[in-house]
Amino acid sequence: MLRHGVPGRCHVLMLVLCLSAAEDFQWTKNEWGAFYYGTFPTGFSWGAGSSAYQTEGAWDKDGKGMSIWDVFSHKKGKILMNDTGDSSCEGYYKVKDDISLMKDLKLTHYCFSISWPRLIPTGIKSDHVNEKGIEYYDNLINLLLESKITPIVTLYHWDLPRVLQDKYGGWQNISMVSYFNDFANLCFERFGNRVKYWITFNNPWSTAVEGHETGEHAPGLQLRGTGPYRVAHHMIKAHAKVWHTYDTQWRHKQKGLLGISLSGDWGEPVDITNLKDIEAAERYVQFSMGWFATPIFHGDYPQVMKDYIGKKSAEQGLGSSRLPTFSAQEKSYIKGTSDFLGVGHFTTRYITQKNFPSSRGNSYFTDRDLAELVDPHWPDPGSEWLYSVPWGFRRLLNFVKTQYGNPMIYVTENGVSEKTLCTELCDDWRIQYHRDYINELLKAIKDGVNVKGYTAWSLLDKFEWDEGYSERFGLYYVDFRNKNKPRYPKASVQYYKRIISANGFPSQREVESWKRKATETCSTSNQLLATDPLTSHMEMVTEIVVPTVCTLCILLSAVFLMFLLRRRN
Ligand code: NOJ
Repeated sequence: MLRHGVPGRCHVLMLVLCLSAAEDFQWTKNEWGAFYYGTFPTGFSWGAGSSAYQTEGAWDKDGKGMSIWDVFSHKKGKILMNDTGDSSCEGYYKVKDDISLMKDLKLTHYCFSISWPRLIPTGIKSDHVNEKGIEYYDNLINLLLESKITPIVTLYHWDLPRVLQDKYGGWQNISMVSYFNDFANLCFERFGNRVKYWITFNNPWSTAVEGHETGEHAPGLQLRGTGPYRVAHHMIKAHAKVWHTYDTQWRHKQKGLLGISLSGDWGEPVDITNLKDIEAAERYVQFSMGWFATPIFHGDYPQVMKDYIGKKSAEQGLGSSRLPTFSAQEKSYIKGTSDFLGVGHFTTRYITQKNFPSSRGNSYFTDRDLAELVDPHWPDPGSEWLYSVPWGFRRLLNFVKTQYGNPMIYVTENGVSEKTLCTELCDDWRIQYHRDYINELLKAIKDGVNVKGYTAWSLLDKFEWDEGYSERFGLYYVDFRNKNKPRYPKASVQYYKRIISANGFPSQREVESWKRKATETCSTSNQLLATDPLTSHMEMVTEIVVPTVCTLCILLSAVFLMFLLRRRN
C-alpha cells in the first residue's frame, strides 16, 4: 500500500493519538466549494491505468525474468495474507478482453507499464532480450491503437529485475542509470514508432521511501535517512539520461513526448494564520513531489530539503549532508528534462510544525520536522491512508503550476479503494470521489493549470502491493477466487462513462440523474458482463453469492463482537 507520506502503521497510530489529543482543535474551515458545471477543453483525454506487476500475472511465463517484487512477495510475512502477483488479474492473457472494457468506457488513453524483466530477464540488455515479452507489448499496443486508445507507457513501475538488485544493490548503485537507459532505448527502438507518450518512473518517491526507508515495499530495505536520498538521486539521474537519449536519438523520428510521473498528497497548514504551519505544509509537499520535480524543472533539490537535511546531518556529526549533491554540470543536464509532468494524487493531510531532535537518529520522516493530521470528518472508504479531500487536488495542481512554470500535465493516477470482504458493485463512494475530484480538476483548469488528461486509477481491482488483494481500486471488480479472473463493472463504470461522453459536467439537470442511473443498473444482473461468458455464473454472483457473503460478514462480525464483549466482562 502506498501511504503517501504516512510512515507505516505505528505512525498512523500516532496520528490517531494526535487526533484525540487535538479534539478541541477547530479544524480549518475549508469550504467544499460549490459544484462547478462546465466541460473540459476539446480534446481532453480520458483514461484508466494499471501497472505490470499489479495486473499481468504470468510472473514466470514465456521467458520472463524475476523482479524484486516476485522475490519480495514470495517471502513469508511481507504481504498481507502472503498474497503474490503471480497470477493477479491474468492480464497477460486477457489483453483483448481488457481492451473491450476500455472501449466500453470510451477511454481515449490507457496508462500501463512495461515489465523490465519481461523484456530483459536479467535487466542487462547485452545478456538477452526476450522476444516473447516484446511480442506481448507489441500486441497490446497494436490492439489499443486499433481501438483508438492512446497508449501512455511507463518504463518503471517498481519491478526492477532481481539480478540487478542482487548483483549491484539496485537503485542504490549508480550503474542502474546506464542499465535503465539501455532498457529505455530498447523500448523506444521497438515500440516508439507507435508510442508517443513515455513516462520514465511512476512515483519514484515510493521506491525511495517505501522500498529503502520503511522497507514495506520491495526490495524491503530500511536504510533510514540515507538510502532513500541515494536511491532518489540515482533515479533522477536515470530519468534525465533517458530524456536526453530520447531527445537526441528518437524524438526527430518518433515525435513523442517523455515525462515523469510524481505522486503527491496535498499538505494544508493546520492553522493558516501560523507561519510555522504554513512553512511545514510547504515542506511536506517539497519533501515529496518537490524532491523530484525541483531538480527536473529547476536543476537542484528544493532549498528547504538542502537546509533541513544539511542541518540535521551536521548536528549528527556527519561531515556532509545525507542529501547528495549535483555538480554544476549535472544540474544543467537534469534541468528541463520533462516534456510533461505526470501527476498521481489520492489524498490530503493537515500539516503542523513539529521538531524532531537530530539525536533521535536518521530518518526521512523526522528530517521534515512536521506532523501529519487528518480531519476525522473526511470520508475514508478504503485504504487507511486515503481520505477523500477533493479541494486538495485543485490546490496541488495550482502548486505545480506556480512552482514549475505551468508545465503540461497528465493526471496519471487518481482514485479510491474499498476495503470490504463483501462483493460490492454499487460503489457510490467511488462515484462521489471521482465526481468531486474531477470537478476540482475542472476548476484547476479554469484557474489556468495546463492539464491535458485524466486517468482513473485503476481499470481493474489488482494486487495492491503490501496490502495484497485486500484493497480494491478498480472500476471493474475482479473475482480473484475464480481461476478465470472474471471482471464485473462496478456502478462507477457507468458514471465515469457519462463524464467521458459529456466531457465533463454540462448541466445540473443532466448530472443529477447520473448517479441514480449508475446505481440503478448496478443491482441488476444484466450489466455483470465483463469477460466471463457464463452469464448464469454472473447472476449467481449478485443474486446468490453477494447476499450470502454479506449476510455471513454481518453474522461473523456479530459473533466476533459478542466474543470481545464477553472477554471484557
Ligand atoms: C500509487 C501507485 O503507483 C499504484 O501502484 C497504487 O495502486 C496506488 N498508489 C494506490 O495505492
